[in-house]
Amino acid sequence: MSERQSSKRRALRTAIFALIVLAVVFTLYALSESPREKPALPDDADHKAVADWRDCLRCHGDGGPSPLTPDHPINKEQCFRCHTLQGATPPGR
Ligand code: HEC
Ligand code: HEC
Repeated sequence: MSERQSSKRRALRTAIFALIVLAVVFTLYALSESPREKPALPDDADHKAVADWRDCLRCHGDGGPSPLTPDHPINKEQCFRCHTLQGATPPGR
């Protein structure tokens, strides 16, 4: 095998390796974000007043006037990580 050919082959192998690494990184990134849209908090007094996630469950918990749907993401303790008032600093965080 000539010197030229083997360095071409090495370059090709490096390129394929780089592509695989990129694909893995991209897949992990895509999986780390919830694929679904996270609705913003309504910009009303009810939502501005709340500073603790337990208060959210007064209305959005089981038996509240506006319970979470059964397919809501299971993380029930960090409302503000996913739901924020647009343009406002989330209270309590
Ligand atoms: C006093 C009752 C009450 C409290 C407390 C409350 N909510 Fe709500 N929330 C509602 C009601 C009623 C609606 C639906 C009507 C509306 O859009 O205002 C709603 C709507 C929402 C929506 C929008 C849903 C959509 O489909 O757009 C999100 C997100 C939400 N609340 C999250 C929270 C979070 C997080 C907290 C705690 C910081 C919280 N709520 C506290 C009553 C409440
Ligand atoms: C991991 C991210 C995440 C966390 C944490 C989270 N939510 Fe949600 N929430 C979502 C997503 C995504 C949706 C849209 C669900 C859908 O499309 O079915 C949603 C929807 C909602 C809705 C609209 C009604 C419904 O059930 O779909 C309300 C109200 C709500 N969230 C309140 C809350 C409250 C209150 C908390 C904390 C106790 C909370 N969320 C924590 C991601 C989150």
